[in-house]
Amino acid sequence: MAQKLAAGNWKMNGTEASLAEVDAMLAAYPAPGCGVLICPPATLLDRLSRRIGTGPIATGAQDCHMNTKGAHTGDISAEMIKDAGGAYAILGHSERRTDHGETDAIVNAKTAAALAGGLVAVVCIGETEAQRDAGETLDLIGTQLAGSIPDGVSGQTLVVAYEPVWAIGTGRVPTLEQITEVHDFIRARLQERFGADLGGAVSLLYGGSVKPSNAAEIFAVANVDGALVGGASLKAADFGAIIDALQNA
Ligand code: 13P
Repeated sequence: MAQKLAAGNWKMNGTEASLAEVDAMLAAYPAPGCGVLICPPATLLDRLSRRIGTGPIATGAQDCHMNTKGAHTGDISAEMIKDAGGAYAILGHSERRTDHGETDAIVNAKTAAALAGGLVAVVCIGETEAQRDAGETLDLIGTQLAGSIPDGVSGQTLVVAYEPVWAIGTGRVPTLEQITEVHDFIRARLQERFGADLGGAVSLLYGGSVKPSNAAEIFAVANVDGALVGGASLKAADFGAIIDALQNA
């Protein structure tokens, strides 16, 4: 069984003042009925992790370098993420694939480094609108899955997030049928490659304009084990409502 996970990706948002939102989440969810993860900007990871302490919200980074150390100005390694209290790393987000030219091969190497460093890897995949319109979605998803995930993962250390690029930050969401088709496809591919048990234990998150108003219907889709939430994870009230929906799914 895959773990249910409500994951927040703060992207390049958040300063000291934002920590108060997490205080509110901790007060509202002392014992959530699902996994809860926040990936703040790297500048806040240590502060946020210390603030949460042994509390029920996990923290993670939004990227992880493929090397363990060295001359890579501006980058952070898996060891540094762990040292800052993080247990997860998001890899291959479409914004990094676009802004930083990250290919499947780069994402694969970064994912391997995160796993080797003892982190849970949240690997992101998803099609552009042009790819969907051209009928290429499942081909692309299959290619990204095969290329971005290294061998030797376990269900507990891998999370896959399906984030259609055209749904990110746009308020547009695929139909439930479209989400079902892609999530069923991802589950089948993972089970083919890693076996039924391991492939069945990978949490599959949907991401792209998840809001309190649409979370429950998305979480009712088979093979959706949670969400990777951008904008709506920044406010305790909105993220709390999404946690509620997942707990009740
Ligand atoms: P939004 O929830 O703001 O659409 O962002 C989704 C996302 O990219 C999460 O990684």
